[in-house]
This record gives sequence, C-alpha cells and structure tokens, in this order.
Amino acid sequence: MNKREIKTAKLTVDGDTYQLPIVVGTEGEMAIDISTLRSRTGLITLDPGYANTGSCKSSITYMDGENGILRYRGIPIEQLAEHSTFRETAYLLINGELPTKQQLDQFSARLNDHSLIHEDMRYFFQNFPRLAHPMGILSSMVNALRAFYPEIPERSEEEEINITFSRLISKVRTMAAISYRISRGHKVVYPRHDLSYCANFLNMMFDTPVKPYQIDEDIVAALNVFWILHADHEQNCSTAAVRLVGSAKVNLYAAISAGICALWGPLHGGANQAVIEMLQHIYENGGDPVPFIKKAKDKNDPFRLMGFGHRVYKTYDPRVKIMKKMCIKTLKKLNIKDPLVDVAERLEETALKDPYFIDHHLYPNVDFYSGIFLRAIGIPIKMFTVMFAIGRLPGWISQWKESVDDPQWKLHRPRQVYIGKTKRDYIPIEQRKE
Ligand code: CMC
Repeated sequence: MNKREIKTAKLTVDGDTYQLPIVVGTEGEMAIDISTLRSRTGLITLDPGYANTGSCKSSITYMDGENGILRYRGIPIEQLAEHSTFRETAYLLINGELPTKQQLDQFSARLNDHSLIHEDMRYFFQNFPRLAHPMGILSSMVNALRAFYPEIPERSEEEEINITFSRLISKVRTMAAISYRISRGHKVVYPRHDLSYCANFLNMMFDTPVKPYQIDEDIVAALNVFWILHADHEQNCSTAAVRLVGSAKVNLYAAISAGICALWGPLHGGANQAVIEMLQHIYENGGDPVPFIKKAKDKNDPFRLMGFGHRVYKTYDPRVKIMKKMCIKTLKKLNIKDPLVDVAERLEETALKDPYFIDHHLYPNVDFYSGIFLRAIGIPIKMFTVMFAIGRLPGWISQWKESVDDPQWKLHRPRQVYIGKTKRDYIPIEQRKE
C-alpha cells in the first residue's frame, strides 16, 4: 500500500484497540496523531528529548535528514545561498513568499527606521562586567527591549507585530555590534542608512576614526550566505524554546530571549565557539586528529567531536558544503592561511573513514567550518554564537508567528512519568533520624 494511503494506526492496550489518525505532510512525512490518546486510554507517550515527537504542523522549513535536504518555504538552501540576501530570506521566512521589489524596499526602509537603539540602553551595556559572555548580554538586552518599546494601544495588532519583527531583526544586529565595541572600550558606531544589512553590521563592528572600514562586497556577500545558512532549521532546541515560551503568551521579546539562551549551549549554537577551541587545541598539540577521535569514541570520556553529529541529519548537512566553499573562498580573498583549515580537513577526513563515525552516522554539521570563516572576517570567538543568533532570528520570528496564528494553538505543557516516592507522611524535625 502507498504510505500516503495509510489513514490510521491501531493501538491495542490490554485487549482494547484504538484507532489513531495518521497525519501526512506535503513531502509524505507521516505522524500518528496522539492528541486524544490520554483522554481515550489514560496513557501518555514517553519520548525523552522529543526525537520522535512532532510538536506542531509547520509550513516554514523542510528538512530531510536521511537525504541531506533543507528548504525554506520550499526553496532549496543551495538556491537561496547562491541568489538571495539575508534580508530577502528573512522576508521569505516570515511572510511565506519572496518579496516583490516594492515589498523588499519597504522592508529595508523599516529595518533602517528601527536600526538605532534607545540611548539609555547603552548604560546597560556599559555596566556588564567586561568578561560577561555576549550571549548572556544579548539575551538580557533583547528581554529589556520590551521595557524600552512597550506596546502602543493606538496601533493595530498587525502593525505592532510588524514593527516588533523589524525592530528585532534590525536592533539585534546593532546591539551585537555595540556590545563588541564596548567590550573593546571603543566608541560606538551608529548604523548608516546608505548601507545594506550586512555591510552595516561590518561597519558598526570595525569602523574606527583612525582606520575607516573599507566595505568589501565579497565579504558582505559571504556574510549574507553565512546568515542565510543559519536562518531557520525547523524545530531545533532554540526554536522549540521560542515556541514553548511563546505558548504562554509572553511578549515576543521574552520568547526570543529564551531562544537566545537555548542557542548558547555547546550542543546547539555554542558549538561554533567550541569547534574553534577544539581545532586550536588539536593544532597546539601537534595537529594529529587521531588521539581526539579516539577520545570522542571512548564511552568513559565525555569529550565529543564538536561540529560533528546532528539529531536530524544522518548524512552530510547540506549547509556544510556551502559553508566550507564560502569559507575557503573568503580565506583566499583575504589572503589568510589559517592552519586550522588543515586541522579541520584532516579531522573530517579521518572521522569519516572511522567505523564508529560511519556506524553512528556522524558527519560534520554547520558549525564545523563556520568558526574559521568568522575568525577570518575578524569576529572574536566569544561573538561566534551571537553571529548564529542574528542569523536564526528570522526563523524564530516566523516560527513564533506561525504558532500564534495556529488555530490548534495550545499552551505547551508536556507530561511526565513520575518515578519518585509514593505517598508518605511528614515527619516533624525532632523525630527525624540523623
Ligand atoms: N562525537 C562523538 N560521538 C557522538 C557525537 C560526537 N560529536 N555525536 C553523537 N555521538 C554519539 C553518541 O555518543 C551516541 O553514541 P552511542 O549511541 O554509542 O551511545 C550516539 O552518537 C548518539 O548520540 P546522541 O547524543 O544520542 O544523539 P543526538 O541526536 O541527541 O545528538 C548532537 C545530536 C548534535 C547533540 C550530538 O551529535 C553532539 O553532541 N554533537 C556535538 C555538538 C555539536 O556539534 N552541536 C551542533 C549541532 S548542529 C548546529 C545546531 O543546530 O545547533
């Protein structure tokens, strides 16, 4: 029978059979709808880490982990990386369609209008300790945006939401650059209306009165690709966090702030920082990947190869090929010979031939080469995950929007199987045994 024709699954519990509907996606993915399971059977499902649980229906991003496919709103990532800009891809993700010229101009104008931050927010930045991690600063500042930009009752809900989207996309970039400038003790550079989204970021980061930043269109194009590759990845940990926190009907800034916190972790977006630290460590220890691969395979050692493995991809992450090509091209353009490229290539080659990595379907992921690119364009290591966050923002926003517009919207509230003590009596402190 054709998989698409299967309409129900049967579940038999203690002799009683229950029919559960099967939901089929547009690409043929199938899911058993268990939304009535508990009310009908008294049972719940148990799925630690949600590896087998679909939390929503979504029309934003399609991933096929077995065949290495990634598409935003149906368009392959390869085509977007080649032809689009980050700004246009953000519009596509949020609105569902590529913009017309007029729509794109309007979107750009809105981003420009909202690119400055409230001057008082600069005092916040200045009071973080110098060693504070920029991801902690960013999540706090994004949460603080609600205080500086409260809702205006005269605005329609749609207008308010559109302004909030533009504000976030534009201001997060400005805030990231400001946090870097302040951490260096340098004067803040304001966004310029005559520069594109990516060029503006680079200028805010690197322009100084004594050395004006020269915009290089090749680097601007490469940064566009970097951010397009990070723009969405369906129900990953940070996006799931945005949806979950958003499901309590908090404001969007608070939900995005939660996403930034989730992304910070080294198993998720923080891996780009962890990869470069690992590659540097291998380089400083002679550059031989073999002992590190051995360590990664040792079950008694918590070490993992960072930038390797993925919950969904069981083959090459399609973003890696684009990232690697763009990374090598950028190094060539900037005439940089980074020894970490050799270390990374040797590590990749050796791991891909190793039976452990083959059997576990472990391939490089998007973070494997991204840090080498970021380092080449002058981004400090501590800012790597912030770069990921700027890229992922349109994805978080579009996923949040989809969830609040969903007629099946529900507060996210998983259940559990309790394995603690059964009922017992309270013992007064004087009767407790030492
Ligand atoms: N190095 C060594 N072994 C690994 C690795 C790795 N990087 N990743 C997974 N494994 C092994 C793991 O030990 C386990 O082995 P076994 O079944 O023998 O006990 C098996 O593969 C499955 O691991 P898992 O942790 O259950 O798989 P997962 O789907 O939960 O993990 C992951 C996905 C990304 C958390 C994991 O591969 C990992 O920790 N990778 C390193 C961190 C990393 O690069 N993260 C970036 C992910 S991509 C960017 C993003 O979307 O955030």
